[in-house]
Amino acid sequence: MVKKKACIFISGSGTNLRSIIKNSRDYNFPVNINLIISNKKSAKGISFAKKFSIPHIILDVKKEKFEKIAIKELIERKINLVCLAGFMKVLSKNFIRNFKGKIINIHPSLLPKYKGLNTFKRVMQAGEKITGCTVHFVDEKLDNGKIILKKRVLVNKNETPENLKKKVQLEEYKAYSIAIRKIYNLS
Ligand code: GRF
Repeated sequence: MVKKKACIFISGSGTNLRSIIKNSRDYNFPVNINLIISNKKSAKGISFAKKFSIPHIILDVKKEKFEKIAIKELIERKINLVCLAGFMKVLSKNFIRNFKGKIINIHPSLLPKYKGLNTFKRVMQAGEKITGCTVHFVDEKLDNGKIILKKRVLVNKNETPENLKKKVQLEEYKAYSIAIRKIYNLS
């Protein structure tokens, strides 16, 4: 199987990045991680690029410049899929149009519920009994594109947002790679 080329965008700890890298080493996984782009020079996740010897670019600059350089790199390196993993910049309509249907994201709630930030706190305040995570295509609206996969997590009584985050993230690590396989009809 000829693997497609993927680039992962990060801003923070990069634990989803780490799990995708690990899964991508399986010869049956549909993509290789060919590039990592961070918009924060302080992002801890950059350490995984180094650890696994994956090319990485740090673009800690204003959005316009970030997107100009990122678009050039993605095109030159013939990247087929962009995975947003804890990437905290909202991409412009122009950027999204350039890679229509090729950008995916993971969000820590069962979309369309709880778009945006602070999902765990809001889920608990609303008294939800079930939450989870969603992998979806990125369109021009925030946390809105076509859903690829959702994974559910039970919210216990006396749960803290921090604990709920840990539980949801464990599901995210599975969900992201299953979703990538699904895009290429492998699961
Ligand atoms: C994840 O919980 C993801 O759902 C959200 O940002 C977090 C990123 O965590 N979009 P990490 O950087 O992968 O550790």
